[in-house]
Parts: sequence; structure tokens; C-alpha cells
Amino acid sequence: MNFEQVQECAAFVREKHQGEMPKIAMVLGSGLNSMADAMENATILSYEDLPGFPEPTVEGHAGRMLIGELGGKPVICMQGRAHAYEGHEPEKLGFATRTLWALGVETLVLTNAAGSLREEAGPGSLMAITDHINFSGINPLVGVNDDRIGPRFPDVSEAWNKELTGTLKACAADLGIVLHEGVYIMAKGPNFETPAEIRAFRTMGADAVGMSTVPECLVARHCGMKVVGVSSITNLAAGMQGELTHHETMEYGAIAAVNLEKLLRAFVAKIA
Ligand code: HPA
Repeated sequence: MNFEQVQECAAFVREKHQGEMPKIAMVLGSGLNSMADAMENATILSYEDLPGFPEPTVEGHAGRMLIGELGGKPVICMQGRAHAYEGHEPEKLGFATRTLWALGVETLVLTNAAGSLREEAGPGSLMAITDHINFSGINPLVGVNDDRIGPRFPDVSEAWNKELTGTLKACAADLGIVLHEGVYIMAKGPNFETPAEIRAFRTMGADAVGMSTVPECLVARHCGMKVVGVSSITNLAAGMQGELTHHETMEYGAIAAVNLEKLLRAFVAKIA
């Protein structure tokens, strides 16, 4: 993924959206599509039309970039994302994030659907991501480094911005929404985990598990964007409940989306 390709994609977006370019972008995970419907005055671009973009294939991911407003505040909403389990090259998983950077986005809000490793954070609840474990075996930053984008060895000791996470917590408290906090571990998928893997992940310090988000966070930190994240808990992880299905991910994702939408609205209003 080179600098020029990213710039070319950003130029295409700027041509389609001549207005002000938002400084905040949000990536919506599985079951969180309704957030995009809440966008006002949006320029809507399909990922398939964006040069260089990998196309998502999973059900529940529409694959659209919406540049508009949420509660009157400028924001870019990324509806759907590319996943490692779809077979994309690792570096492709950072293309959308780098395009946002090239557009001048400074703050990236990452959301996802995740399984909970903690009984008290059940399906339908929300968890702020305080840190992550990259257990996916892939890294989008592998390859020749382009110093125009970021350093060879980026520091990720504060991958998830503490101040913004604090703002998110304050917004949740104001709204009376329970916001758990925890460490997100990324597994590559596409299978859900085994109960033994979940026990191992718990020992490692993970609180939630999913198949996305970490590549975007790494790419965003590499180029200096601030990152904040929320998992919508769609199920208790393998071995903690019955069978796991994508249908359930969609169903509980929709339930969590109601609170997540309120939370993100308040968050954007506060920081925009
Ligand atoms: N594991 C991995 N990814 C997920 C899960 C899970 O339990 N739930 C939603 N996405």
C-alpha cells in the first residue's frame, strides 16, 4: 500500500465531497449499521468506487463511506470494513484508515462486535477498549516502511487514547449508559474461538474477543491519529454460553447499537 495510492483515493473523495472535511471518523462494526442512517447531509460513497479500497464481503457490512454530520457535527462514518479472514493482504486492512489520514482526519473511533470474556458484561452491553492484544498473527505495518506516513517502529504504549476514553466514559455516565472497560484481543477467525482458546485469552488478560479493529488501530497510530474504541458485546465467548452464531452477532449488535448511537452522538458533540 503506497503513499501515492492513498493520496489518489483521498483526492477522489475530495472531488466527490467538496465541503468541509471532518476531523473525526467512525468505523462501524457488525450490526451497527443503524448509526449510518442517523447521518445527516451525507455524501455517500461506495467502497467499490473508491480506488484501492478492499471490498468487504461479510453480511451486515454495507461498505460505504458517509461524509456528513451527526447531530450537526461533521463526521465521516465508515459503514463496514475489510477483515483478515476475508483473505485480504494484511497491508490492505489499513488502506481505509490511511485514506482517512490523508483526508485530514485526526480522531478515529473504532467500533466492533465482540464476544465477552466476563460474565458481568453480557450480550447487548458496551465495552470501551482500553488496550489490545494482537493475537491475529498478522500486522498491516509489515513491509517496507514509508517515513512520510509514520516511523518504522511506532510506539503503541498508548494505542487507545486515555483522554478520549475518559471523555467517552463521561458521556456514558451523563447518559446513564453502562460502559464496561477492557482489553480487546484480536483472533484472525473466521471460526469463533474454542473454549480452550478463550480460557487462554482470559489468562493473557483479555476481556473481549473479536476479529477486527486491531489492524486499523495500528495503522492509525502509525500515522499519528488518536484512537478510541468501543466493543458492542454480542455474546459471551465460547464455552461460556451455548452455540455461537453470526445471526446472534447481528441481533445483539442491533440492541447494543441503540446505546452506542446515543453514546457516539454525545461523544462527537463533545469533541467536534
Ligand atoms: N469471537 C470473535 N468474534 C466475535 C465474537 C466472538 O465471540 N462475537 C462477535 N464477534
